[in-house]
Amino acid sequence: MEEHITVGRAAELADVTVRTLHHYDRIGLVRPSSRTAAGYRAYAPGDVERLREVLAYRRLGFGLREIATLVDDPATDAVAHLRRLRGLMLEQRDRADAMAAAINRELELRAAGTRTPPEEQLKMFGAQLYDTIGSAYPATRRTDPRIAARIWDALGDARTVLNVGAGTGSYEPPDREVTAVEPSAVMRAQRRADAAPCVAATAERLPFTDGSFDVAMAVSTVHHWADPVAGLREMRRVARRVVVLTYDASAPGWLDRFWLTRDYLPEFADVLTGWPSLADLAQAIGGRAEPVLVPWDCADGFFEAYWRRPEAYLDEHVRRAVSVWTKVGPDAEHRAVDLLRNDLATGRWATRNRDLTALDAAELGLRLLTTATPSPGERGSSSV
Ligand SMILES: C[S@@+](CC[C@H](N)C(=O)[O-])C[C@H]1O[C@@H](n2cnc3c(N)ncnc32)[C@H](O)[C@@H]1O
Repeated sequence: MEEHITVGRAAELADVTVRTLHHYDRIGLVRPSSRTAAGYRAYAPGDVERLREVLAYRRLGFGLREIATLVDDPATDAVAHLRRLRGLMLEQRDRADAMAAAINRELELRAAGTRTPPEEQLKMFGAQLYDTIGSAYPATRRTDPRIAARIWDALGDARTVLNVGAGTGSYEPPDREVTAVEPSAVMRAQRRADAAPCVAATAERLPFTDGSFDVAMAVSTVHHWADPVAGLREMRRVARRVVVLTYDASAPGWLDRFWLTRDYLPEFADVLTGWPSLADLAQAIGGRAEPVLVPWDCADGFFEAYWRRPEAYLDEHVRRAVSVWTKVGPDAEHRAVDLLRNDLATGRWATRNRDLTALDAAELGLRLLTTATPSPGERGSSSV
């Protein structure tokens, strides 16, 4: 009985009532497999694992009937449940971030004497992060030709291309048959009228049959997914090859690589908590990683794009087009920007980062992950 936990102790640890646990037992959701000598319910390690899953799904808002179906699914083992739960929790966190950002905006509007229109007030509840911040995206986010060349080169001779997390369509190759996938309605709505057809879906659940495309690509999006490894495996399932532009965010010294995170925004570390290593991402697609340098005048205004143009970060438009600033929250953002403004004015930034002026491109952890080109025998009929 040593590893068993009594019902009272289980309730105390999980911060639920004993009545709740009795109820789960009665309805067959979590049945403790033994009793103590005194006749109390006792949970074996396997029962505790199941109880943990049930309570986690409950906390995510699932109903008991739905939970029973989920935890009884014979195709889902404990690791798969943990992965799914982690994904759902992170998605919930992103939604909370998005709602907090919307609330901040409303507070700012109220302080300025204006009110948020009724429709806007409701929108925050159905929003993906990019439904909240996406309208600011096109102001500074566009195709950088040098980065595009690297991605398009990696597409090889692919004729059909799936672009996952496609956003407004930057980096979609003009000379291939492209299908886009994008979960945010706001991002989909900002695609050009002549852009590739776009399906509302997430990477983790791609609505395509196995091997539907020559290549699946994903650019600057994987770090937004609830479950990156699951999403990459899905891409691998629906395409013969995968090309991904992402970050090596787990390497030691990551924060120190870029002066903005090193000297002004250490909170960036929290944004990527739990982020899989580059090796995990590469493994998910059976691929390898190559560095992609960020040109000093990069046309796509992602977080690191202005590494040699520090004044750009003082511009609200530049920051609003990058999710990092929403994720760290307004306190960290204002502190970082004020510090930077001051260091630019006093010349401290220039002194500290003198060597950057000599560089035309910088290694800031951007990586191109690609699966190996399949052998001729593996190629499908749609390859040219
Ligand atoms: C930084 S934008 C990049 C957009 C585009 N690929 C580009 O390079 O401009 C990230 C995009 O990922 C999308 N996204 C977020 N979660 C996703 C998921 N689970 N599956 C697919 N896309 C997702 C967002 O809605 C957003 O449009």
